[in-house]
Amino acid sequence: MYTILAVVIAYLIGSISFAVVVSHGFGLADPRTYGSKNPGATNVLRSGNKAAAICTLLGDGFKGWLAVWLAIRFGEQFGIDDTGVALVAVAVFLGHLWPVFFKFVGGKGVATALGVLLGLNPWLGLATLATWLIIAYATRYSSLAALIAAFFAPLFYGFMFGPDVLMLAVFVMSALLVYRHRQNIANLIAGKESRIGSKKK
Ligand code: G3P
Repeated sequence: MYTILAVVIAYLIGSISFAVVVSHGFGLADPRTYGSKNPGATNVLRSGNKAAAICTLLGDGFKGWLAVWLAIRFGEQFGIDDTGVALVAVAVFLGHLWPVFFKFVGGKGVATALGVLLGLNPWLGLATLATWLIIAYATRYSSLAALIAAFFAPLFYGFMFGPDVLMLAVFVMSALLVYRHRQNIANLIAGKESRIGSKKK
C-alpha cells in the first residue's frame, strides 16, 4: 500500500518540469518553444541564460534524488523494499518524461536520471556523471554524452552491486532515455546536432 503511495508521489515530484518553472521565474521564453523544444537544462542554456540552465539542471536532478532518497530513508519504516525503491526510481523518471502537470509533454530525463542514480548510490551517480562530463567535454554534444552515459549506467551498477531489481530500474531508465533521444540520434547521424552552448533558433 505504502509502495503505491510512494510511486504516485514520486511520479508527481517528477512531473514538476524545472525547465518550464525556472524559465518562467527568470522571465525567459518557454523552452518548449525554441531550440530542440525540449524542457531540459541543455535547451534552457540555448536561451543564453546560464544561471537558468544551472537551476534547471539542479532542480531536475534534485527531484530524482529526493524521490529515491525518501524511498530508501523511510522504506523500512513503511515496508518499501528494493522493488518498491526501483518502482519509485522509474516513477519519478516517468514523471519527468510524461508530466501530468504539463500535458504529458516532458523532457528527455538526463538530469533526473542522474539524480536518481546519485540517490541509489553516490558512486554510481558520480561514475555516470564523470562519463557524461568526459564525452560532453570531448565532443560538446550534450545528447551524445547522455546516450553514452546511459549505456554505461546499468553496467556500472552491475559492476558495483551485481544484477538485481535496482539494476533493472537503471536499465529501464537508460532505455527510455535513449528512446527520448531519437531526434538527437538522427541529428547526430546527419551531422546536424547542435553543440552545447549554441544559441537558440
Ligand atoms: O538534456 C537533454 C540532452 O541530452 C539533449 O537536449 O535540447 O539538445 O535535445 P537537447
